[in-house]
Amino acid sequence: MFSHKVLEKNIGWLMVLTFIVVSVGGLVQIVPLFFQKSTTQPVEGLKPYTALQLTGRDIYIREGCYTCHSQMVRPFRAETERYGHFSLAGEFVYDRPFQWGSKRTGPDLHRVGGRYSDEWHYVHLMNPRDVVPESNMPAYFWLADAPADAKTIQRKMTVLKNMAGHPYTDEEIAAAPAELEGKTEMDALIAYLQVLGTAGPKGN
Ligand code: HEC
Repeated sequence: MFSHKVLEKNIGWLMVLTFIVVSVGGLVQIVPLFFQKSTTQPVEGLKPYTALQLTGRDIYIREGCYTCHSQMVRPFRAETERYGHFSLAGEFVYDRPFQWGSKRTGPDLHRVGGRYSDEWHYVHLMNPRDVVPESNMPAYFWLADAPADAKTIQRKMTVLKNMAGHPYTDEEIAAAPAELEGKTEMDALIAYLQVLGTAGPKGN
């Protein structure tokens, strides 16, 4: 009854059976990832974002930096030569949501941590054309005048700890507002950029 001919002429059955086959294929590929250590465990040395870095990460998201920058070095020679070692799943366990992105108007930023000085980032964010004349990246000079938000930081860290299991200690959460005191959004964003990709493997 279920010869191929019958199936090809019966759109209902074709849809149902195609769906089943694709689902099985999908499950076989996806389910093991949830149990594989290399995709669920943090890489050695990876720490959850500090209060300042976490604040910077939220500014990165708020300002839409991900619309021009990916954070995902792919395992191809052209990418690793330019950016460094390809990205590993275990480097993103404290990224909720991760900022992999796919649009690259500007370079990938996953391994930008430590590549430039804080001063370079400051000048670049104030006006990218001061350091890269041909840049079409927007300037973000107002971040230098905006105080880092110390009011919500403890709640953010508590949620990440209780709901997502990020290993923050009570002392770290208690000290968070003080860490942001006197800091600007610019400081926070630069602190975030400087830690990106630094726990991952070095070299290409
Ligand atoms: C309209 C697209 C666009 C947006 C939005 C954008 N950038 Fe860029 N970015 C670029 C381009 C193009 C370059 C390369 C030229 C340059 O260095 O300015 C770049 C370069 C950079 C670099 C230097 C990377 C390297 O390896 O040399 C950093 C760091 C950076 N951007 C951070 C940011 C941050 C943080 C934000 C959000 C606050 C942001 N960018 C928003 C387009 C963008």
